[in-house]
Amino acid sequence: MGVFDHPEFDHHELVQYVDDPDSGLRAIIAIHSTALGPAAGGSRRWTYASDDMALTDVLRLSRGMTYKNAVAGLPFGGGKSVILARDGVPKTGELLEAFGRAVDSLDGRYITAEDVGISVDDMRVVGSQTEYVSGLPKSGDNAGGDPSPFTALGVFLGIEAAVEARLGKTSLEGVTVAIQGVGHVGANLCELLHHAGATLLVADVSRANLRAVCDVAPCEVVLPKDILFSDVDVLAPCALGNVLNSETIPRIRAKVIAGAANNQLSDSADGARLAQRGILYAPDYVINAGGIINVSHEYFGDSSEEAVREDIAQIPERLRALFAEAESSGRPTNILADELARRIVENSSKNSELKEPTGKRRIA
Ligand code: NAI
Repeated sequence: MGVFDHPEFDHHELVQYVDDPDSGLRAIIAIHSTALGPAAGGSRRWTYASDDMALTDVLRLSRGMTYKNAVAGLPFGGGKSVILARDGVPKTGELLEAFGRAVDSLDGRYITAEDVGISVDDMRVVGSQTEYVSGLPKSGDNAGGDPSPFTALGVFLGIEAAVEARLGKTSLEGVTVAIQGVGHVGANLCELLHHAGATLLVADVSRANLRAVCDVAPCEVVLPKDILFSDVDVLAPCALGNVLNSETIPRIRAKVIAGAANNQLSDSADGARLAQRGILYAPDYVINAGGIINVSHEYFGDSSEEAVREDIAQIPERLRALFAEAESSGRPTNILADELARRIVENSSKNSELKEPTGKRRIA
């Protein structure tokens, strides 16, 4: 299928295919919109069943970044990249350098950072070839480093807001939370929830990640196939997308869904399906913006971790406003969030001059 006919194509400004035979790199970079600023969004390394599935993922994820950055009030448009993990092609320094050169060739229209399968160390290698990179090791009190703990913080605050809105509880003491995926974000989230007194159920396909999280927070381990349907107050999807769909939603028992994973809904009608079942859904790109908020402060080189935390504290406020609007209008939270994001993008005048970063990266 061609890009323009693809069901997830949404007038993306650019879709770039990258093939570097020397390193084995195959990647797709998608820029959905630069209306609000340079297109920012992480790079995901994943094994896709087909190139078309990789294209689907990058088209959806990059549009999600436009919406996420708009609602978070960041001077960024939306973009994303996927690196195709393939048998016999390891994630070498040469491959990451080739990816860095591909990012650099876009002259700042796309800024990359970590996503699933990419670490801070990987970003350091990518950053040896381009200044259009964030999520690099932090220095001193400056914003920077792995965005995951900041994503987890925003999700944690969002869970508090959703639990109050749906269950009328102002504390997470004794609230049960099922976390699907205890990787970078999920593990940090478990720690925060445990300290707040929540009872945790976790599932992961990685035994090592399960062991690591159970060392820092007491939790009951559930099989991956069962976690979505656990009898809990809150379900926090923190693995991959498309987990909320017409097959899974009828079996979900949680009253609140609030997690980090991008593109949790298979399609936008799933938001109405959740609402009809009385399940309060915290739109993924609203609740998981903590990481990109940290990336933004780091990239523009203009602030400290304290400022990042202040911005993240706005996430539960935005969610409360969406929950209240959903309650009064009877409309699903995901639709209200999409409308808000599109309004923000449409109201912006096209930025011909992208915001100049004050803390430009040096190419090593
Ligand atoms: P990660 O790769 O560190 O963690 C994902 C975890 O999910 C891994 O432990 C993996 O084994 C597990 N997993 C995969 N398939 C599973 C399944 N079927 N059942 C149970 N567990 C499964 O990724 P990370 O960084 O923690 O991100 C998690 C999600 O949050 C992703 O969807 C990502 O796009 C999203 N996100 C991450 C941000 C960040 O700052 N890292 C920012 C915003 C969104």
